[in-house]
Amino acid sequence: MPPSLPETRIIAFTNQAGGAGKSTATVTIGAWLAEFGLKVLVVDLDAQSDSAQALGYDEPEQMDGQPTLYNLLIGTPGVGIRDTIVPALAGALGAEGTKPIEGLDILLPSAELESAEQLLTGQLARELWLTKTLAPVADDYDVILLDCPGNLGLVVVNALVAAKEVVACVKPTWKELRALTRIEQTIERISQSFGPNGAAPELVGILIADVPTTRSAGAVYDDSVKQARDAYGDLVLPTIRRSTRVPDSYAAQKPLPVFDRVAEVTDDFNAVVKALGFARLKK
Ligand SMILES: Nc1ncnc2c1ncn2[C@@H]1O[C@H](COP(=O)(O)OP(=O)(O)OP(=O)(O)O)[C@@H](O)[C@H]1O
Ligand SMILES: [Mg+2]
Repeated sequence: MPPSLPETRIIAFTNQAGGAGKSTATVTIGAWLAEFGLKVLVVDLDAQSDSAQALGYDEPEQMDGQPTLYNLLIGTPGVGIRDTIVPALAGALGAEGTKPIEGLDILLPSAELESAEQLLTGQLARELWLTKTLAPVADDYDVILLDCPGNLGLVVVNALVAAKEVVACVKPTWKELRALTRIEQTIERISQSFGPNGAAPELVGILIADVPTTRSAGAVYDDSVKQARDAYGDLVLPTIRRSTRVPDSYAAQKPLPVFDRVAEVTDDFNAVVKALGFARLKK
């Protein structure tokens, strides 16, 4: 057994808008951490199921007898959280050559999570549902990464309450960077409501991804990254360059560190993992 971290780190990747690089960050950082020798759980909270797909599982709700997060939400009798967790895969489930990724698990989502907001609304202590749901397995992992849907609804509020740390994901445009204040306000509101119970989340990083590398497209973007650094200082994590290896890795259903370990963009994510304070446990 490799050594483990003294306490489980729970990190939510969030943004109020879609297409900000949350799922890419969750899956890639998860794969790097597993490669570092940590035991990692990715929780896909999005009905789009992008992280699950990237880790080998196309339509979890179609898998015979396989419970998902949705079953936990509606309280299907006999289904516990461990029934919804499977090993992450390098490659599509059932395809030739597909192998589990050592140290990386995924809690499966479902397209039925579309109705999660309404289902949560009717629950008692509705903001604490995910915190309570994850509690039985938290000690099994060094790190739990929460991939949020692209809004600031009740599912995301649940993720922010469950997480100790929050990484805000944005693409390098003015509009997106301005929207960071809304994430900060939401975190602040949650801290005020839940802080005394020790459940206050902290914004630990701003991840700017899909940064163009060509000069013509880059001029405006470079400026917005600089503005973010001026406003947020060290909170701005190392940036992630734009690369075709990202969509390529999605198509192959392999996370970047498995798909192309030496690509620049894979290395960018390695720098982010280190900036978040993780060190390699495994040589
Ligand atoms: N560094 C990058 N280089 C090239 N393409 C990227 C990069 N990062 C993300 N993308 C692309 O941007 C799109 C959105 O990324 P991703 O799915 O990670 O965002 P998201 O925030 O999870 O979106 P959603 O809100 O829809 O869940 C994807 O098509 C992905 O392939
Ligand atoms: Mg996503």
